[in-house]
Amino acid sequence: MVERKIPSHVAIIMDGNGRWAERRGKERSKGHIEGSKNVEKIATHAFKLGVKTLTLYAFSSENWSRPEKEVRELMRLLKTYLVKFAKKFAKKDVRLVVSGSREELSKDLVDAICECENLSKENKDFTLNIAINYGGRQEIVRAVNNLIKKGEEVTVDSILDNLYTSPFGEPDLIIRTGGEYRISNFLLFQGAYSELYFTDVLWPDFNETELEKALDDFSRRKRRFGGVKNV
Ligand code: IPE
Ligand code: IPE
Ligand code: MG
Repeated sequence: MVERKIPSHVAIIMDGNGRWAERRGKERSKGHIEGSKNVEKIATHAFKLGVKTLTLYAFSSENWSRPEKEVRELMRLLKTYLVKFAKKFAKKDVRLVVSGSREELSKDLVDAICECENLSKENKDFTLNIAINYGGRQEIVRAVNNLIKKGEEVTVDSILDNLYTSPFGEPDLIIRTGGEYRISNFLLFQGAYSELYFTDVLWPDFNETELEKALDDFSRRKRRFGGVKNV
């Protein structure tokens, strides 16, 4: 048995909701409902295991191209989740932050995001960072534009400082559920040296045991960051 190393920052591409539903002869939206129920379980377990930040990819900049009905359902679920968070988790030492562009989001949703962020901003033990209307390329462009506006030099460090994730550090581990082997515009800059873990398990089926499997796999990785020594 390898001693379990707990990554400080874990990120998850929560993929496979649609296929989960289709395999059961249900509408894709049922998969999203089931997937959203899974967030609390996995976040609670990550917190319990000692992870400090969990970044979850909930809606990409490109997901607007889905049928309108599906987009509406996803937006509704995000708002429902945030309202529930405000009532329950904000009191439980969990800080909630949202990464991504708010310009295209409804006022309702932006209000719910702001309420959660405000209510939980003093919570230090665990951060749940939800990526909504997030794209890695868009995030880099935004960071560079911020630097230009401030008249600051564009460097690797200054870009890192202007990403949504700057307070939480770079992700140590990126997990993708749902069997695809791609990044789909997620954490492109800060993920340069993240360990990647792909599983065929669909997001609604990704449970505590599956999370532990990913962490065990991470514990066996040799991270060298371009050098020759394991870090
Ligand atoms: C992930 O599940 C959720 C979002 C992208 C919003 P999908 O909806 O992409 O599920 P599949 O990949 O079609 O199974
Ligand atoms: C990535 O999944 C985005 C989220 C999980 C939110 P997609 O289902 O949108 O990715 P592609 O289209 O398979 O690359
Ligand atoms: Mg998908």
